[in-house]
Amino acid sequence: MRAGADAAAQVLRGRTLSFRDDPRVVGPDRAVQSHEDGAVALCSQGQILWYGAFADLPSAHAAAPCESYDGSVILPGLIDAHVHFPQHRMLAAPAHDLLEWLDRFAFNEEAQYASEDHAAAAAERFLDKLVSHGTTSALVFSSVHGQAADCLFRAAQRRGLCLITGATMMDRNAPDAVTQEAEASARESAELIASWHGVQRLRYALTVRFAITSSEEQLRLAGELLADHPGCLLHTHLSESAAEIEMVQRLFPWSKDYTDVYERFGLVGETSVFAHGIHLSERECQALHDAGSLVVHCPTSNAFLGSGLFDIEHLYAAPRPVRVGVASDIGGGTSYSLLQTLAEAYKIARLKGCSFSAFDGFYLATLGNARGLCLDGEIGTLDAGRWADVVVLDPCATPVLAGRNELSESLEDTLFALMMLGDDRAVRAVYVKGEKVASRDRSGG
Ligand code: GUN
Ligand code: ZN
Repeated sequence: MRAGADAAAQVLRGRTLSFRDDPRVVGPDRAVQSHEDGAVALCSQGQILWYGAFADLPSAHAAAPCESYDGSVILPGLIDAHVHFPQHRMLAAPAHDLLEWLDRFAFNEEAQYASEDHAAAAAERFLDKLVSHGTTSALVFSSVHGQAADCLFRAAQRRGLCLITGATMMDRNAPDAVTQEAEASARESAELIASWHGVQRLRYALTVRFAITSSEEQLRLAGELLADHPGCLLHTHLSESAAEIEMVQRLFPWSKDYTDVYERFGLVGETSVFAHGIHLSERECQALHDAGSLVVHCPTSNAFLGSGLFDIEHLYAAPRPVRVGVASDIGGGTSYSLLQTLAEAYKIARLKGCSFSAFDGFYLATLGNARGLCLDGEIGTLDAGRWADVVVLDPCATPVLAGRNELSESLEDTLFALMMLGDDRAVRAVYVKGEKVASRDRSGG
């Protein structure tokens, strides 16, 4: 909340919300920073200069144009920690379970991304959807085709987005159209790292689809690349469905468990991100804790594919808490909205006999995911120096929300209603690097 010396290019005024830390760990009083009549001052280069109570706005910023979001909540842009670009249109494809869903739908759809024209057009549609749902950063699975990742990087660069992706490494147990020999996939990954990792706001994730679709040779090469490029993330799936876990055991009979397969090849570290992690044993939780890896909860996908009920308290349990993120997992997931994703996570927690607060949820979708993706120096809060990726949420965006909001008695209650009942209609405005990239008129109730 340091006052910047430079004059702001614009000021956003409304109820501000940002996190200093994890409210579950340090308590909401220490974690939550909010001003009922707050302001965020942005500079022309797209960074946040200052935020705090509007009454305390430094005089240097007083002359800047002010956009007023009365009645709305201004918070850091939402971050999706696991989403599939080449599945951007194949939501709601019903199947018996994950493996059947991959065979019947996902692999066929991803085969289309061999065409650069298809991938380039799809990248724009995909990013439009993220942004219109208030998601300003994401860790993204691409397809096996290097040019598809290239198209996505280019599209994100043009929009000034902070985005992490990589070409998917797969060399077995999938159709030829979506596999590539281990050596060739490693070469392509290395080329993409050289082209894109660290360019503006883009980062590379070595992307192993899951243990089932990689030979030991491919896993070994991925581990070598990760060791050679410690700033890159490792992005994969882990322990999602019962049939998947059985198949991993058959393919890697020497392994203690699923996590052990990735450990064997040097893929479990503090920049590793594992989607799902529903059925993890104590040993696996201990190993993930020791490594400092992130496990990403994908609740709408887990419910839709019938994969299982993520046990958030088991993951968080002392003395070996595992870091947890949250994600849409489109297209196994059924909503681009991180509000809907949090709503489903809440319901799944209730079914497991536990719960979490709206502060916990909004923390996860902002600073929590930023920390998990090693981006917290850049995004995830409204602090001075962070990129001005900002979302404005309207607690009265729909008649249902407006009615519920009449009963809200506190910020936490307002956020809880937004989390349970909100979706893209609640997104009043979105800023990327200080530029307004989406907005919606207030409809009210
Ligand atoms: N495991 C391997 N590939 C996938 C995928 O595309 N979606 C989900 N949900 N799980 C996977
Ligand atoms: Zn996934």
